[in-house]
Amino acid sequence: MGKGRAEGSSCRVTIGTAFVLCFLAILIAVGVGLIVHFSENRKFECVFPGIRSGDPTGQTTQEHSYKLFYFDWRGRGELSRMMFTAVGQSFVDRRIDFFKEWPGIKYTMPQYVVPVLEVDGRTNITQSMAITRYLARQFGMYGKNAQEMALVDQIIETVVDIFSGVLKFQETPNATERARVKAEFYKENCPKYLQFLENIVAEGGRDNFAVGDGLTLADLALHVYIEHTEAHVTPSDRPLLNNYTRLAENRRNTERIPKIRDYLANRPHTDL
Ligand SMILES: *[C@@H]1O[C@H](CO)[C@@H](O)[C@H](O)[C@H]1NC(C)=O
Ligand SMILES: *[C@@H]1O[C@H](CO)[C@@H](O)[C@H](O)[C@H]1NC(C)=O
Ligand SMILES: *[C@@H]1O[C@H](CO)[C@@H](O)[C@H](O)[C@H]1NC(C)=O
Repeated sequence: MGKGRAEGSSCRVTIGTAFVLCFLAILIAVGVGLIVHFSENRKFECVFPGIRSGDPTGQTTQEHSYKLFYFDWRGRGELSRMMFTAVGQSFVDRRIDFFKEWPGIKYTMPQYVVPVLEVDGRTNITQSMAITRYLARQFGMYGKNAQEMALVDQIIETVVDIFSGVLKFQETPNATERARVKAEFYKENCPKYLQFLENIVAEGGRDNFAVGDGLTLADLALHVYIEHTEAHVTPSDRPLLNNYTRLAENRRNTERIPKIRDYLANRPHTDL
């Protein structure tokens, strides 16, 4: 009897142990599953905002097809063209004739304005800086971390400010009046914003890059929007840009990039 009871209890112990082991195995499996699940989600989150590596070659991005709608001007479209150029990404550069074509297609555009970027023939992105930020994420040109991204953003917002000063004189029809507005711009707003930009580059840029130690959206934005101010050629004997050594050197640095140099030498010449 005693023996039988002993055997029975050892059997119960074995079943109990099996239950405990089973329970532990399930806990471990669920735990591993959760870890895998979250690490995959983290990886996805890291890839999407494009903090990837700052690698401007674009080699690691998926292939997409791009069509840029803009006028036959540099204006608000040129920065996107420069980004495609810098990474060697082909795109359709649809240049719209402002006088002949635009009235006919204006109201087919999502916000009745260009630039518009069509991606894979499926999505249209409107607003020039939304387009360039999207491309910067796709191409790994938005900086390597949150701090660099904030510096890139500060440069973007400041060139938008400087461009509103440019538009003031470009949109003044009377030539005498235009010359007056432009002279005022060079005395007040242009030096002010160039100094702000110089400070940002001095704070966050290394090796003649605007932000961090590699090519980002910021370098190309500075190149395009300073060209809109004409501060790199005005006055012709001692251009204003030369007063800002970091910006001037950054501009030369950008122009030394072979793909950019070739593009600048061969692109259509336009006044705006
Ligand atoms: C994008 O806009 C262009 C120009 O209006 C239009 O031809 C095209 O159909 C649009 N594509 C999409 C996916 O909306
Ligand atoms: C242009 O502006 C100047 C100075 O304000 C003025 O004297 C001149 O009449 C204007 N010209 C035209 C064509 O409106
Ligand atoms: C730029 O520098 C020159 C001398 O190198 C100076 O005469 C000029 O006032 C400066 N311009 C500005 C806007 O600071």
